Amino acid sequence: MCGIVGYVGPRNATPIILNGLKRLEYRGYDSAGIAVIQDQRVHLRRNVGKLDNLERRVSEEPLNGQVGIGHTRWATHGQPSERNAHPHISMDGQYVVVHNGIVENYLDLRAELKSEGVIFQSDTDTEVIVHLVAAFASQGHDLTEATRLACNMLRGAHAIAVLSAAHPDRIVAVRIGNAGGVAVGIGQGEMFVASDIPAILEHTRQVVFLESRQMATITADSYTVQTLDSQPVKATVHAIAWDAVSAERGEYRHFMQKEIFEQARSITDTIRGRVDFDSGCITLPDLTLTSDEAKRLKRMVTVACGTSAYSGLVGKFMIEALARLPVEVDYGSEYRYRDPILDADCAALAITQSGETVDTLAAMEEVRSKGARLWSIVNAIGSQAMRIADGYITMQAGPEIGVASTKAFTTSVVDQYLLALYLGQLRGTLSAEASRQHAHDIARLPDLVGKVLDRASEVEALAERLATYDDFLYLGRGINYPIALEGALKLKEISYIHAEGYPAGEMKHGPIALIDDQMPVLAIAIRDSVYEKMISQIEQAKARHGIVIAVATEGDEFIQTKADHVLYVPELPALLSPVVTVIPLQLLAYYIAVHRGCDVDQPRNLAKSVTVE
Ligand code: AGP
Repeated sequence: MCGIVGYVGPRNATPIILNGLKRLEYRGYDSAGIAVIQDQRVHLRRNVGKLDNLERRVSEEPLNGQVGIGHTRWATHGQPSERNAHPHISMDGQYVVVHNGIVENYLDLRAELKSEGVIFQSDTDTEVIVHLVAAFASQGHDLTEATRLACNMLRGAHAIAVLSAAHPDRIVAVRIGNAGGVAVGIGQGEMFVASDIPAILEHTRQVVFLESRQMATITADSYTVQTLDSQPVKATVHAIAWDAVSAERGEYRHFMQKEIFEQARSITDTIRGRVDFDSGCITLPDLTLTSDEAKRLKRMVTVACGTSAYSGLVGKFMIEALARLPVEVDYGSEYRYRDPILDADCAALAITQSGETVDTLAAMEEVRSKGARLWSIVNAIGSQAMRIADGYITMQAGPEIGVASTKAFTTSVVDQYLLALYLGQLRGTLSAEASRQHAHDIARLPDLVGKVLDRASEVEALAERLATYDDFLYLGRGINYPIALEGALKLKEISYIHAEGYPAGEMKHGPIALIDDQMPVLAIAIRDSVYEKMISQIEQAKARHGIVIAVATEGDEFIQTKADHVLYVPELPALLSPVVTVIPLQLLAYYIAVHRGCDVDQPRNLAKSVTVE
């Protein structure tokens, strides 16, 4: 949601900012704008809709200056319109602000500012910020101090960037709470600000991430960080391993397609260096535990949202089976509203691709306040969820740009398998022989994932036949029940088709009423301990004329006599099977969406990082 990009340096800021905003498009937005200081004055260009519209505006009225900020807005307060688009400007035209988050007390602040004679130009909550900064500046404060004083008046979570014609050599950036990250990129004689690192990766990989209630003042060759209480901060510079090419679409038509096809590679990276294939021992360098600590654990709680929550449901099966530790999975958005029971014998695991999902971060804070051990599985290096955890495991998926999460799902599932083995080894629930066997199974994953991807054209052909249906039911049992949820989520997100995921055994308790010859039923029916049960569900769906598509184990010819279509996946132990069963479902959703002409990478109403509640 909302993206911020800023530049200070010797080059023309405009193309750098527009390009950076393009790389943040995946976050979701409905309008965009840019402000550049040119000839000692602030110049604004804004437009509704996609960035192309803003680019057109800029090409009609070019901007050329060395300092600027840009923004993609996802409307909260006020319709998507040009006057509500950011940046917002002060009445004297000297100050501009871009902002992610919600000013919770904006009504009070707006009333106060109005009573002092301020005339508002927009319906946004953001506009109060620029008028506050201008008011403090008019009392003689410099840009940093005026911004600090203004930010101390705001309630809620925020990421903010401010620039001023009165201080044309700098940008001030602020982070308060979890409204998305603020990264300061350190270049050679130039500096950048961005809400997410893909925006600046092509320029620098040296990054400082602001913590909550910190602010940075950047000029072309300096940056200083302080708290909102004016305490200086010695910031840590992170070296980001991702390169700019990994954030490019390359020869693929969509990022989602590229990311699906990258999964053999991303899983290889996830495993690399963490598994000793001779002994089966697992090393997780950023999440260390003694054997005593692991044995003292009584249970685990996983908190996450959306696809990451479904990954957590898969992980529950793995951790319970291999480490014999009970796992409860809850939505990040629900967790803090039920006064959860936690103590020091409990470990909490947050799973989040972006590391900035506000609900997951709030659940992590809840865990922290109750004294439990706090771990995270994250993809975005340096993100808040990585920084606030006691220990973390990175997904190693590389940048995930498509709004529909794919490679982050499979890599986070593999991470949980590694965590389950690690805990099992420390808790003594896994023998050396069993560990070696599991390591051997993990080693096969990239190759087997590659084999599923080799059959993509079969899924594409099936997608063409199914693309006109309006309702789908996805069924799975055991560890593949979360895959039914994930398959349905993928389809609805990007193709806008109604799809429900259900535990197969629950079908007869309700959804069976929906089944007729207009309803495709996706059944994950691999050869595992619940195979026969799945066959019986398939028969029940067929008896109601449902169109059954089975995801089945290679070599299972019997299932062809039961299902209308079969998508084969290679045989794997049940605990690892979700890594391969999810892939045909990702592909099916992708090809159906393409067939229906949907905007696959930026589906309507959705944002990649959900940074507001
Ligand atoms: C997945 O396809 C979704 N777009 C969404 O459910 C996502 O997984 C969710 O918002 C959580 O994001 P996170 O992993 O970045 O926390």
